[in-house]
Amino acid sequence: MISDIKKAIDLLNTGDVIAFPTETVYGLGADASNEQAVQKIFTTKKRPGFNPLIVHLLDLSWADTIAYVPQEALPLVNNYWPGPLTIVVPLKEGAPIAPSVTAGLSTIGLRVPRHPLCRELLKGYGKPIAAPSANASNTLSCTTAAHVRRSLGQGIYVLEDPASCECGLESTIIDFSTSIPTLLRYGALSLEAIQDYIPSIKLSTTVEKIKSPGQLKHHYAPTLPIRLNAEYPLEKEAFLNFGAPHPKETLNLSREGNLEKAGSNLFKMLHVLDDPNQFYAIAIAPIPNSGIGKAINDRLIRAATPKSLEESS
Ligand code: TXA
Ligand code: MG
Repeated sequence: MISDIKKAIDLLNTGDVIAFPTETVYGLGADASNEQAVQKIFTTKKRPGFNPLIVHLLDLSWADTIAYVPQEALPLVNNYWPGPLTIVVPLKEGAPIAPSVTAGLSTIGLRVPRHPLCRELLKGYGKPIAAPSANASNTLSCTTAAHVRRSLGQGIYVLEDPASCECGLESTIIDFSTSIPTLLRYGALSLEAIQDYIPSIKLSTTVEKIKSPGQLKHHYAPTLPIRLNAEYPLEKEAFLNFGAPHPKETLNLSREGNLEKAGSNLFKMLHVLDDPNQFYAIAIAPIPNSGIGKAINDRLIRAATPKSLEESS
């Protein structure tokens, strides 16, 4: 494992991209200060240049030279970092951050992950790592090394952890650059948990200007069509159930009805069911819209939205 970290660090040092596990999903990382390396992330993912990247740090002190973290963010950050929380804050002038990381915005997304191997990587590399999720743009996020290779090809070096990503859903994103903190993306940290610290948090509903590609309607999509709130499967449909076992279920996100477990299984199971040789479509049982259920439903609604209905791309 140590030698894997060394190889990953060598690649980052030579301006390459690597995939690495986090507690949410795998990331596709590059040195955040190296413009050419960051460009490789965009070309590898076929990600449009207007979508900014999150920068991963070992701890809050790494933010000092990069951004202004407002006082009001500190209680939240101190409680949930390291963990699946990303904050968007004003970028400092002269920050050692490649311009395409922020896609020309005056703000930057920061996250301190808690996955042990990811933390070892950050500690060993000693510098911020820019990383979006390690999947081709608009497709399913990846929670195993095998998913990453299937999505991005065999050419990518993947720092592997046999235990897949614990949360299985991307980080929750909060924008602190606005006058009232705004939730930009539902994620592995529930809204309820955030409201304990920021009761006044606003929910972003705007899609007219892309602040977060998670706000694009068509996103996180498998190749097969998705049918939501299904009680049973139609012919040739896979049935992704939740809760009490059903005789026709193909897989069950959580037989005990545990939403955390369902979140951690979501992308993993969609990767398995997204098989056109076996199925015509994927039917998915209703998921309660509370706690992590909000993030699960958010991903499912986007996955079920046909590309033609996308508002902007
Ligand atoms: O859990 C995660 O957040 C994973 C792991 C790898 O850390 N990363 C991830 O990155 O999901 P990505 O690029 O797939 O999604 C990050 C989101 C994008 O929707 C991006 O637009 C938004 O964060 N974002 C990044 N910087 C931003 C900024 N300055 N303002 C608004 N949104 C920003
Ligand atoms: Mg993504």
